[in-house]
Amino acid sequence: MRRRRARVVRYDRRVIVGAPREIKPGEQRVALTPAGVRALVERGHTVLVEAGAGAGSGIRDDEYATVGTTLTAADALWAKAELVLKVKEPMPSEVKQLRGQTLFTYLHLAADRALTDALRKTDAVFVAYETVQRPDGSLPLLTPMSEVAGRLAVQEGAFYLGRAHGGRGVLLGGVPGVPRGNVVILGAGTVGMNALRTAVGLGADVWILDVNLDRLRHVEELYGNAVVTQMSNSYNVEEAVLRADLLVGAVLVPGARAPVLVTKAMVATMKDGAVIIDVAVDQGACIETIRPTTLAEPIYRVGNVVHYGVTNMPALVPRTSTFALTNATLPYVLEMANRGVAGAMRANPALAMGVNVCRGKLVHPAVAAFVGEAPTPLDACQV
Ligand SMILES: NC(=O)c1ccc[n+]([C@@H]2O[C@H](COP(=O)([O-])OP(=O)(O)OC[C@H]3O[C@@H](n4cnc5c(N)ncnc54)[C@H](O)[C@@H]3O)[C@@H](O)[C@H]2O)c1
Repeated sequence: MRRRRARVVRYDRRVIVGAPREIKPGEQRVALTPAGVRALVERGHTVLVEAGAGAGSGIRDDEYATVGTTLTAADALWAKAELVLKVKEPMPSEVKQLRGQTLFTYLHLAADRALTDALRKTDAVFVAYETVQRPDGSLPLLTPMSEVAGRLAVQEGAFYLGRAHGGRGVLLGGVPGVPRGNVVILGAGTVGMNALRTAVGLGADVWILDVNLDRLRHVEELYGNAVVTQMSNSYNVEEAVLRADLLVGAVLVPGARAPVLVTKAMVATMKDGAVIIDVAVDQGACIETIRPTTLAEPIYRVGNVVHYGVTNMPALVPRTSTFALTNATLPYVLEMANRGVAGAMRANPALAMGVNVCRGKLVHPAVAAFVGEAPTPLDACQV
C-alpha cells in the first residue's frame, strides 16, 4: 500500500531524532515504527533511521522512507541525531559514539556497574524506559513487555505440553467428554492477568493466586466463576501445584528478589510431563528449580517436569513487541522533541523519573545507591 507523506505542522523547536539498528546479539526490535516517524515529521522534526533497522521486526526500509525518514548509516546517525531512540543498552561501539545526545532506551543500570561507569564518562543524557514512573508508582514502559510475556507464557506452555515437545500430551481446552487442562498462575499483576486471559481464551481450567485480595476481586469481577481465585500462601500453593498441567510464575515484589513460592519438594509432587514457565526468572524466579534459559535452548527437565526460564520472552515475537513498546514510548518521544528534553522533564514528572545519568552525574536514586553515592538533583544538571 502506498502511504501518504506526513502533513507537516511546524513547531518552533525542531530536533533531529535517530533510531539506529539494534546491535546487541539476538535483539530484533526497533525503537521507532513508521507511525512514529510520521508523528515526528508532522511536527517538523527530522528523523534518521538506520537502513535495515526494522528488518528483525518485519518493517522494510521503504516503509520508513515513504513517511519521510532519511535512511542513514550508523556513524552519520550517531553524529547528527540529538535524540537517539534505542531498545537495549548501548554496546561498547555505541558508547564511543556518545557526545551530548539524549539517549532514550532500556538501560537497567542498577544491575551493571561497568555500563554505569562508562555512561557517566560521557557528556550525554540517559533516560531509561524502565524507570519512567507515574505518580501512582506504575511503570508504563515496562507494562507492554509484561503484557507480551504473560500472553506468551500460556502460548509457550500449551506448546511444550505437546507430547512431541516433552510435555504431558494435554490439550488445554480439552474436548467434550475429556477434562480441560489445568493452568495455575502465581501472581495476578500484568503478567498474570495476561496469562489468565490467554488461558481462559483457550478454554483451560484456570486457578490464579495472589497475596493482594484486591487483585483477586478484580479477577472475579472480570471472569466470574470461570476462574478459581486463591489467596497465595504455602498451603494453597502446595495444593494448586499438585493439580497443574501448566504452572506460570508471575509474581513481583518491587525492588526485591522474587519470593520462592514453589519449593523443589513441591515440584517433585507435580504430574509427569507438567510444564513450568517462570516469567519472574528475571527477578530470581519464584519456583526453586527454575534457572535462566535462552530462546535458543528454552527448556530443561527436573525429574519429569519441563522447566522454561527464558529471561527475554518478548524477543520471541519481536514484531508484536516492537509495536507494543513504541506505542508506549512515542508520547514521551514526542514530548521530548516538541518541548526539548529539559522542558519535557519540567512538564512531566513521570518522564523526569526516567533520567538516570545526566552529563556525568548520577540522577536516579536507585542507580546512585547502587554505586554508593548520593543522587544529584535533576535541577542541578544541565539537561
Ligand atoms: N521473562 C521475561 O521475559 C519477562 C518479561 C516481562 C516481565 N517479566 C517479569 O515478570 C514478573 C511479573 O511482572 P508484572 O509486570 O506482572 O508485575 P506486577 O507488579 O504487575 O505483578 C506482580 C504480582 O505479584 C503479586 N505477588 C507478590 N508477591 C506474591 C506472592 N507471594 N504470591 C502471589 N502473588 C504475589 C503482586 O501482588 C502483584 O499482583 C516480574 O519479575 C517481571 O520482571 C519477565
